[in-house]
Amino acid sequence: MLYLNDQKLSPSAPSGRSILEFIREEQQLKGTKLVCREGDCGACSVLLGSLQADGKLHYQNITSCIAPLANAYGKQIVTIEGLNLKNGRLNRIQQALKEAAATQCGFCTPGFVVALSNMALQKAMGKDLSPKDALSGNICRCTGYKSIERAAKQIFELLQREKPDLQKLVQLELLPRYFLNMPQKLKELQHQQSSNGQPSFQHTFVGGGTDLYVQQGEALSLGEVSPLCSQSQLSGISVKNNTYHIGAATTISQIREHPQWQKDFPKLHEMLRLVASLPIRNMATLAGNFVNASPIGDMSIFFLALGARLQLLHLAQNKTREIPLEDFFLDYKKTALQKGELIQSLSCPRPDAHTHFSFEKVSKRTYLDIASVNSALKICIKNQHITEARLAIGGVKAIPLFCKKTSDFLKGKELCSKTLRQATEILQDEIAPISDVRGSATYKRLLAQQLFFAHFIKLFPKTFKLKTLLA
Ligand SMILES: Cc1cc2nc3c(=O)[nH]c(=O)nc-3n(C[C@H](O)[C@H](O)[C@H](O)COP(=O)(O)OP(=O)(O)OC[C@H]3O[C@@H](n4cnc5c(N)ncnc54)[C@H](O)[C@@H]3O)c2cc1C
Ligand code: FES
Ligand code: FES
Repeated sequence: MLYLNDQKLSPSAPSGRSILEFIREEQQLKGTKLVCREGDCGACSVLLGSLQADGKLHYQNITSCIAPLANAYGKQIVTIEGLNLKNGRLNRIQQALKEAAATQCGFCTPGFVVALSNMALQKAMGKDLSPKDALSGNICRCTGYKSIERAAKQIFELLQREKPDLQKLVQLELLPRYFLNMPQKLKELQHQQSSNGQPSFQHTFVGGGTDLYVQQGEALSLGEVSPLCSQSQLSGISVKNNTYHIGAATTISQIREHPQWQKDFPKLHEMLRLVASLPIRNMATLAGNFVNASPIGDMSIFFLALGARLQLLHLAQNKTREIPLEDFFLDYKKTALQKGELIQSLSCPRPDAHTHFSFEKVSKRTYLDIASVNSALKICIKNQHITEARLAIGGVKAIPLFCKKTSDFLKGKELCSKTLRQATEILQDEIAPISDVRGSATYKRLLAQQLFFAHFIKLFPKTFKLKTLLA
């Protein structure tokens, strides 16, 4: 069961059907648009509301074209129709877009309204979302964006002035009134809902669906899937004995918004802004990124540098085993995951006062693009000496690469330009990039070196300058 706007439904569609198809085909709500079907354009944006452990309703925007219906069970899907005021007037966001002349053909407009409604809801949940971040998953082919930016700024300023809670969002006509009843309605739904059961190997495991539904969306839409995001034991972040324990189905947004992570990694927000767009980060899970095994998977590179270990669960045998993330990637798109196993969780040490962490990514577009080369570095420094180093680079081999030789070389060395220059020679030996659409092998070799230097220049700006490193 789920809520579609304010209607409780028990969908008869298979659990693998995309939310977009469910909305448009089964429910005949045509306001949500189908354009790219790859999570890129945001025309299909909807809000997904879910009840949190503290009883509060949490909303986020997602791209419904690549999200399985199963991920909405027990939750509320809000479409553009569900954002209309009952009195027939345009709501404040729709009005702002109209006044700014921010709609031409109008195909993208429902997605922009949903994204700005998400910005308003985030504010009501105590989170500041800039217009740029809020609209990072939406593309418009007509307006040139300036008019949309004006409308977004107007709404953003209103939110900054009013500091609204949910009640106030309704008073300001940013949302329709029925939103106020949804926490209670979802609580009741949760009581009626039977448990989601255990993941089943008979059906395809789905995390957020952001890889699977781009590749196999049509086939998956016809049948059942085994949703992992609804398994509470596979989600969430905890800290014990200075070690992070993270459920496999934890999303990139959950990491980015986690207070302890933000404290331990002060640049976290900026670093993870380089990964996909807001709606994709709201859906994409860490395990999905690892199992996809793309050589440029951002989270694979991030967690390789952090020294993550994976806990794998064999479902039928109810047995777990643990492996370092670097041993998980065997060859191009080949992993150590055995038949019958899933990733249950991962763990990695919390950084201490001597630890520094950096993530860099170069892609054709700065945002909303996959990397040509990406890299992460964790380094511990005591008395100007490197006591531990873990360097990971993507896009330079068939797998996301933990650079063991370079990392081993750095350990114990003085933190100085000479050490870094020697390390880049080892690094060049350790990588084997190929030429492809994302750049030539020569270009990727150069990027690997520059990103390696960039880590140090940004972490220790007083010690390192590019000019002296290249001298
Ligand atoms: C528009 C767009 C932009 C993107 N940008 C980026 C980017 O900038 N950087 C980047 O790295 N990626 C990017 N991606 C790729 C994708 O979002 C990530 O790889 C994401 O982390 C995949 O997670 P998911 O939960 O959606 O995976 P899913 O699609 O749900 O699953 C992927 C694979 O993992 C398996 N799986 C999932 N969870 C488990 C588990 N616990 N145990 C075993 N198997 C499991 C599934 O069966 C499937 O084979 C982008 C994708 C889109 C659509
Ligand atoms: S249709 Fe483009 S993101 Fe869904
Ligand atoms: S108004 Fe036409 S795509 Fe945005």
